[in-house]
Amino acid sequence: MTAKHKIFQDLPADLDRNRLPRHVAVIMDGNGRWAKRQGRPRIMGHRRGVDVLKDLLRCCRDWGIEALTAYAFSTENWGRPLEEVEFLMTLFERVLRQELREMKEENVRIQFVGNLDALPTSLQAEIERAVLETKDNPGIRFTVATNYGGRQEIIKACRSIATQIQQGLIQPDDIDESLFERHLYTAGICDPDLMIRTSGEMRLSNFLLWQAAYAELYVTDTLWPDFDRAEFHQALISYQQRERRFGKVGKKL
Ligand code: IPE
Ligand code: IPE
Ligand code: MG
Repeated sequence: MTAKHKIFQDLPADLDRNRLPRHVAVIMDGNGRWAKRQGRPRIMGHRRGVDVLKDLLRCCRDWGIEALTAYAFSTENWGRPLEEVEFLMTLFERVLRQELREMKEENVRIQFVGNLDALPTSLQAEIERAVLETKDNPGIRFTVATNYGGRQEIIKACRSIATQIQQGLIQPDDIDESLFERHLYTAGICDPDLMIRTSGEMRLSNFLLWQAAYAELYVTDTLWPDFDRAEFHQALISYQQRERRFGKVGKKL
């Protein structure tokens, strides 16, 4: 996205540009099953999944969505076979290195949420570089959840708040939603409006537990490597047909 006028390019006519989600979060699930169905090793699904994410990022940018967050690796995913975990770490590193130039050209601001300290040091270095070199970009805010767990994030926030109390910087009564949010990995990023999960699983799998309180959920049976613009379009249509009531009484009632 080099010029403002490019926003909303190709936005399908049946979508209302004034009612798009500001922030879309995706649980990219089904890579392994996609590969297995083709009689190929699971890692082939992950490889294909990267291309799908790249296209979704471009699509969000073209259609004027402000933020995209993708769940790439959960705190529980370490429990997978070592070979798969190592493949994923190497894949993340390689993709970051290869895509940085294009992300810079397209004004993407990339960020990571999760316990990054536990990642291989070479991956941490690529992450640091990508974050630093894109931090002032005015385009889409692209957040990758890597070694992310919603529970771990909440505990980390509690610890850091407790430390501040111990140091006498704040009082227990100062803790409210806005203070708490500032201690989460996602501090400064608005909550997701729409959360999409592929592969038909009806669960959050520890993703954005706090932030998804009022996200609209959309689950498709399509496996992540087959998720395309047409699928995303369907998710947005579904989103725009809903009434977000936030606990209040709806206009239609
Ligand atoms: C999601 O696809 C990618 C990651 C968790 C890294 P899966 O690898 O979970 O694929 P399935 O769910 O086993 O098909
Ligand atoms: C969620 O998918 C994590 C990511 C997409 C990174 P999983 O495949 O790990 O979730 P479960 O095990 O089906 O709940
Ligand atoms: Mg899965």
